[in-house]
Amino acid sequence: MKRNKITIIGAGNVGATAAHLAAVRGLGDIVLLDIIDGVPQGKALDMQEAGPVLGFDCGIAGTNSYEDTENSDIVVITAGLPRKPGMTRDDLLEKNTAIVKSVTENVTRLSPDSFIIVVTNPLDAMAYVAKEVSGFPRNRVVGMAGALDSARLKAFIAMELGVSVEDVQALVMGGHGDNMLPLIRYSTVSGIPVTKLIPKDRLDPIVQRARDGGAEILKLLKTGSAYYAPSAAIVQMVESILKDRKKIISCSVYLEGEYGINGYYVGVPVKLGGSGVEEIIEIELREDERAQFDRSVNDVMTLIDGIKL
Ligand code: NAI
Ligand code: 2OP
Repeated sequence: MKRNKITIIGAGNVGATAAHLAAVRGLGDIVLLDIIDGVPQGKALDMQEAGPVLGFDCGIAGTNSYEDTENSDIVVITAGLPRKPGMTRDDLLEKNTAIVKSVTENVTRLSPDSFIIVVTNPLDAMAYVAKEVSGFPRNRVVGMAGALDSARLKAFIAMELGVSVEDVQALVMGGHGDNMLPLIRYSTVSGIPVTKLIPKDRLDPIVQRARDGGAEILKLLKTGSAYYAPSAAIVQMVESILKDRKKIISCSVYLEGEYGINGYYVGVPVKLGGSGVEEIIEIELREDERAQFDRSVNDVMTLIDGIKL
């Protein structure tokens, strides 16, 4: 049986950590690509040398050449610039649009049948860029954010209750920004609604902490943003596609009328399997939840409307 080929573009904190996790989980042969000479090669070799200890056999190749990514089954795009002091959101949007555009052109040329998972921020906008540039159908271009935001919410609920994270279910919808919608009403611990276990005055700060999850890590790290949980979330999505697990994961997807939205990438629950996005699940939202979701969608629309391709 042929091994899957997983390409990760961008060998920075998120890309390299995702490569390592994917290797540890034996998901396939991995190609790690970056524009910096030596870095993807060095990190890939270092990971390969961990194989005998950790017990994985997959190949990990570091490269600066797109030719090595040819015929990938799945491509994860983490390449991009972080927001630096003095840089506006619009500056970041413009710079990362250019990067994701050129990455996607290469991916489309060499791996025309691949699935693309976009990670670069601003996330929903970059997923849109990858879809527009690749011309791939929407089931093959998806953004990673909800998996991470939901994981943060689950972690905070488990920490509050002192229970196993395995028993916690939680869902965050909307764009990957300040107005995302942590859907606490749909969160459970072993089937028990979280609202029955945690009083509102304790739940509200948990919801806000999940929304601010990225900023909290950024403030602590100072020189970079989160990468362990983001990488875990990426690998969860990669695995669900490559192993056709059909997990229900909140992902940024191109909506064509679902939730009354047309032509934008927004985070909603999807079934992720061997065909990529196999189903978009439309759940009922209360009026206040819908209002919060709409605020988040408006933020995404402003970003996407500002893209110049
Ligand atoms: P990083 O700065 O550690 O790594 C980025 C890498 O991209 C660098 O190694 C850089 O050389 C490379 N790069 C830049 N331009 C490139 C190009 N044209 N082709 C190939 N590689 C290129 O950043 P980090 O922490 O790995 O984050 C990566 C991106 O992921 C950022 O945009 C970050 O905001 C985003 N992110 C998104 C999350 C989400 O939930 N969607 C979560 C965490 C990070
Ligand atoms: C995060 O949520 C930076 O988007 C990134 O950690």
